[in-house]
Amino acid sequence: MFYPLARSLMFACDAERSHNLALGSLKRLAHTPFAIAWRQQLEAKPVTVAGIQFDNPIGLAAGLDKNADCIDAFGQMGFGFIEVGTVTPRPQAGNDKPRIFRLPQSQAIINRMGFNNKGVDYLVDNVKKSSYQGVLGINIGKNKDTPNEQGKDDYVHCMRKVYAHAGYITVNISSPNTPGLRELQYGDALDDLLQTVRHEQLDLQAQFDKYVPIFVKIAPDMDGSEVQQVAQALLRNKMDGAIATNTTLDRSLVQGQKYAEESGGLSGLPVQQKSTEVLQQLRQALGADFPLIGVGGIVDGASAKAKIDAGANLVQCYTGFIYRGPGLLKEIIQAI
Ligand SMILES: Cc1cc2nc3c(=O)[nH]c(=O)nc-3n(C[C@H](O)[C@H](O)[C@H](O)COP(=O)(O)O)c2cc1C
Repeated sequence: MFYPLARSLMFACDAERSHNLALGSLKRLAHTPFAIAWRQQLEAKPVTVAGIQFDNPIGLAAGLDKNADCIDAFGQMGFGFIEVGTVTPRPQAGNDKPRIFRLPQSQAIINRMGFNNKGVDYLVDNVKKSSYQGVLGINIGKNKDTPNEQGKDDYVHCMRKVYAHAGYITVNISSPNTPGLRELQYGDALDDLLQTVRHEQLDLQAQFDKYVPIFVKIAPDMDGSEVQQVAQALLRNKMDGAIATNTTLDRSLVQGQKYAEESGGLSGLPVQQKSTEVLQQLRQALGADFPLIGVGGIVDGASAKAKIDAGANLVQCYTGFIYRGPGLLKEIIQAI
């Protein structure tokens, strides 16, 4: 009831401005009586994935709460898990504005944010201050000005900072908005990165006496053989899970629409089928027990169910949540 009104107000403003206003309000009001506007109790659908217990399998995808400012408010909405980030070692401004565009006809967004974030120390401070008790994923990346050859140092730096505070850590190598980042998804670069990450994970496990699973987030813009190669690298390097997928560069489903030719990653309904195909291919390549999170184009209960049917153990949403609000979670929990 509340969200359609909030949405019309937000959609009347510039996309990034309304995003920041909404996050500012969620942060300020989470611990006041106004939280009644979004607080909801979802039916419990507990599930254990990668050794972690989730109250329900519906998560908030990375990129919405990049700095972990609003964990408590998103927890109040009933998400079974929240993924914050992508965070980088040092704060960075991201790309020039405007850098986020709505395509309402397709329930879609194009963004080229470029990992704008306040840096890993700020994020960790926020996590420490939060009272959220659910599962928290922390999504890590590299700074734009770090050359790819040293990219793994950025991932290791972030792992060390977030390890003690994370339910799981996501290694993001699939954003289209950091030049060269997606090259880390292929060949020796991928093995080299994952080997380093695995080594660091085991060191940190010994140091903190706690095992934090690592998920790798991949792009939808891969053909079948590339997905196979990624899957083999995940197994070889003993990764704990994968997240499929990030946004797409493909514009074929939004041709002719306003903003369709803006550069960046396309999300929402137009990425749904591609993401689900990649998820399905991963499930086939990795076997029944490998933990997989399905994300990309979940806009209603049926699309969430389709991800589960394609092999997802858990689902996440971003763009569908912008269009539908917290009501989407209720619909999904009933559908799955
Ligand atoms: C504005 C925007 C910013 C995003 N930022 C990130 C990010 O920082 N890290 C990341 O891993 N994914 C990021 N994503 C991708 C989403 O997490 C998700 O993988 C993708 O949008 C597909 O899901 P959806 O169709 O439900 O939006 C972003 C998406 C959007 C729309």
